[in-house]
Amino acid sequence: MVDDIKDSTADGVRTLRIAAMGDLHVSEDAQASYRDLFSEISREADVLVLTGDLTNLGKPREAELLAEDLRNCSIPVVGVLGNHDYESGAVEDVTNILRQAEVRLLDGQAIEIEQVGFVGVKGFVGGFGARMLGSFGEPAIKAMVAESVNEAMQLENAMRQVRAKRTLVILHYAPIADTVAGEPLEIFPFLGSSRLAETIDRFKVSAVVHGHAHRGSYEGQTPGGAKVYNVAMHVDKPSGRPYALLEI
Ligand SMILES: [Fe+2]
Ligand SMILES: [Fe+2]
Repeated sequence: MVDDIKDSTADGVRTLRIAAMGDLHVSEDAQASYRDLFSEISREADVLVLTGDLTNLGKPREAELLAEDLRNCSIPVVGVLGNHDYESGAVEDVTNILRQAEVRLLDGQAIEIEQVGFVGVKGFVGGFGARMLGSFGEPAIKAMVAESVNEAMQLENAMRQVRAKRTLVILHYAPIADTVAGEPLEIFPFLGSSRLAETIDRFKVSAVVHGHAHRGSYEGQTPGGAKVYNVAMHVDKPSGRPYALLEI
């Protein structure tokens, strides 16, 4: 059955099956491993996409545990880091460990696999729509907004590198409010930023995936119509599994 789905589309371009999942939060005292899940994903999909918060506290040991589990993954892995991966100030070590495990971590870059472009940035906070935080007042607020703008600019630069006709955007933070719906309203501004959606809508993208909002909603779209999926492990998905299955 899976092989049927993997067959070519009408125009002769092979459909890529992507398993997307975020917020693994691997911790040193984790009871369960992801090995069986990675084996399953390798049978179900062509590429695994990870949308950040791969570790719980950003500790190198946590990254090593994930790297060990990823040995059971036999398909390419592409991803971004999340805020939790920065917590211990060891993001370089975490990055190196995961890159050695052949995770293609993106932070403002684009890569191509099987004629599909994968563009990744972490993104940042700031809020949505007309209520988005503006650059006004104290330097600390301006620095926060500058970081949000910087992430959107990195996304734009990465989008410009894409030559493929199909593109998947990978984020940790949400680009729209629809897919954080379910979280307490009070924390919406900390779950993402519309600046990411404004950038996305200047390009043609096949889909956008993000995590971070554990209690959010699976599906939404940008004002320009790009499909957005919250693939945090905790979010209910049509696949009935912790990962989303997307065909691009
Ligand atoms: Fe998370
Ligand atoms: Fe997060």
